[in-house]
Amino acid sequence: MASGSVKTAILPVGGLGSRFLPATKAMPKEMLTVVDKPLVQYAVDEARAAGIENFIFVTGRGKAAIEDHFDHSFELEHTLADRGKNSTVENMRSIMPEPGQIAYVRQQDPLGLGHAIWCARHMLRDEAFAVLLPDIIIDPVAGGDGCLKQLVDAHDDFGGIVLAVEEVPRERVSSYGIIDPGKTTGNRLEIRGMVEKPSAYEAPSNLCITGRYILSTEIFDFLDKGVRGAGGEIQLTDAIADNLGKMPIHGVRFSGRRFDCGSKEGFVAANLHFGLKHPEIAEKVKRTATEIMQQQG
Ligand code: UTP
Repeated sequence: MASGSVKTAILPVGGLGSRFLPATKAMPKEMLTVVDKPLVQYAVDEARAAGIENFIFVTGRGKAAIEDHFDHSFELEHTLADRGKNSTVENMRSIMPEPGQIAYVRQQDPLGLGHAIWCARHMLRDEAFAVLLPDIIIDPVAGGDGCLKQLVDAHDDFGGIVLAVEEVPRERVSSYGIIDPGKTTGNRLEIRGMVEKPSAYEAPSNLCITGRYILSTEIFDFLDKGVRGAGGEIQLTDAIADNLGKMPIHGVRFSGRRFDCGSKEGFVAANLHFGLKHPEIAEKVKRTATEIMQQQG
């Protein structure tokens, strides 16, 4: 299979973001900023670096700011240009995918991640596609590939379904989709089974599925049935599990640091991490963070 064979990505942004209320009452969770970029921009940048050319956003009510973010802001661009801030204008324009590369489909009811992906079914060709959850940010190791690129490379070797996986502490497995790992070669492993939000006792391992997927359109055979899973939601994990034994399913223990920005602690940690790396503010952030730590003991 040709290298970089995955060209389309779905970004589900139709969720309620209830863990972040009241911040997300009038603003999409995916537009919360980590230093100076909204979460969704980190995901789009990672996807582009993996060779993705087509972006399908699954949106919902109150998410219009995401569409505006990936469009021209004529008044702002004009005013900035008048003030000679041409590099800022260029920067803002570079955010935008090419005309026609971005599409939006509405998920009228947030019935779960599996349902969100199913809402995009008519916009896909019969070929592998990526899914990135924008509230998960994964910062690559210095000079290394982004997480999605690592998955695309594995897909070029194995085909089928490829998932990003990561170890979590045993006591936290009940918050994740957990896999049953098979044969492991380097950082790639076969997946023999998976279960959404198991108890620590039932969990087949402490390896969780985390925010990046290469999927096949076969998952829609299951999603078409609208079966509710854990938490009464239509679960993507269940649709993937339905394909066990029917096609290769692999996990990649990616290199890079993951932040779950859908949780408050993950979001604050991401701001600290990227703040401490940002060339304009790193020194000041370090000083302030040290001061605060000393004051608070
Ligand atoms: P989460 O599981 O974090 O759910 O979704 P959520 O609804 O956004 O947040 P909480 O749990 O209420 O705080 C992960 C990603 O999947 C999208 C979300 O927008 C987020 O980007 N999603 C989730 C949908 O698009 N539709 C859904 O029905 C559920």
